[in-house]
Amino acid sequence: MKAAVLNQIPGDLEIEDISVDKPAANEVLLQTTNAGLCHSDLHFMDGSWNLLPVPSVMGHESAGIVQAVGSDVQYVKPGDHVITCLSVFCGHCEFCLTGRPNLCNNNAATSRPDDASPRLFRGDTPVGQFARLGGFAEEMLVHQNALVKIREDMPLDKASLIGCGVTTGMGAAIKTAKVEPGTTVAVIGAGGIGLSAIQGARIAGANRIIAVDITNEKLDTARVCGATDTVNSAEVDDAVAAVMEMTGGGVDYAFEAIGRKETVEQAWSMSRTGGTSVVIGMMPFGQKIEITGYEIFMQEKTLKGSMMGSNAFRVDMPRYIDMYLDGRLKLDEMISHTIALEEINEGYEMMKRGEGARTVINF
Ligand SMILES: NC(=O)c1ccc[n+]([C@@H]2O[C@H](COP(=O)([O-])OP(=O)(O)OC[C@H]3O[C@@H](n4cnc5c(N)ncnc54)[C@H](O)[C@@H]3O)[C@@H](O)[C@H]2O)c1
Ligand SMILES: [Zn+2]
Ligand SMILES: [Zn+2]
Repeated sequence: MKAAVLNQIPGDLEIEDISVDKPAANEVLLQTTNAGLCHSDLHFMDGSWNLLPVPSVMGHESAGIVQAVGSDVQYVKPGDHVITCLSVFCGHCEFCLTGRPNLCNNNAATSRPDDASPRLFRGDTPVGQFARLGGFAEEMLVHQNALVKIREDMPLDKASLIGCGVTTGMGAAIKTAKVEPGTTVAVIGAGGIGLSAIQGARIAGANRIIAVDITNEKLDTARVCGATDTVNSAEVDDAVAAVMEMTGGGVDYAFEAIGRKETVEQAWSMSRTGGTSVVIGMMPFGQKIEITGYEIFMQEKTLKGSMMGSNAFRVDMPRYIDMYLDGRLKLDEMISHTIALEEINEGYEMMKRGEGARTVINF
């Protein structure tokens, strides 16, 4: 099968023919129909998160159709439509059993043992799967707890976005922060993740949603997704001062959806007394942030992280699909480009230039 492989870091992706094993007892083989381009892959490709063994098939925002299942799989059958998620859950650890399966780190339970044959290989060389998914490939071989079955009237290209970006952004607003009706929200970075956080805040009933980005194209899409106000931080002297002035002292909830120290600190500074800032973006690995200590206790401010939108994805993703099909969640508007697998590097070049909202591969 054809796949987009990362062979060196930093590096672009190479389209190669690689082999895929048969499903083990608890695994599912998918025919990938669509995959979205999320910025997280880029952090690993450019080395700001230099933690990946190469070669690896990249991609982690996918939808597809079940082709074959292992002998122990009862949850899905060939022909079922599914979305994958990197929050692979074991189902029996403390996190899984206390309602936080997105924090499950019992990877051994949901990966092949080290001495087993690899899921993917190129001749004698094992090929890794980014996020244990490897979504930029015509086929995906994954653990059964890496997918959710979805309704068949859901278009699979839109469904793929739910695999990461939508679940991350919507979940950050609805599940991590628990945005309340009537509150005021700022979202810094209006890419696929930020636009989804804006939609989560709108659906949760926020009164005012301020989108902050450096391109007017993104801010236009942010308005379509529910932003009531916009700030182009490349055009104002101080984005924090602008938001403080617009809100008379800061927002109840601020989200950072870029992955930069400077903008995480901006989110913190934009949140009002008693407010909450949520870090979604992947800052370069190991980077620290600086916040002023007295604000934490004297102003009772909260800084939170959000991992994949605090998801329980087998519950959340079908709900997000219902919200799309009843018109509340806008996904058509988020897909700016549809490309072939062979065009993937151009897709990521567009992302680096800040163009387009979400690019989706159509296999
Ligand atoms: N926490 C999680 O579980 C999780 C999941 C998925 C993605 N992420 C991370 O979320 C971040 C966003 O991902 P994405 O796919 O939406 O990326 P993206 O590249 O599509 O969007 C980033 C946006 O930030 C804007 N931007 C860049 N610099 C800016 C600045 N200084 N001020 C304001 N805006 C600026 C860009 O114009 C762009 O619109 C990435 O770091 C990604 O790795 C985190
Ligand atoms: Zn992602
Ligand atoms: Zn677990």
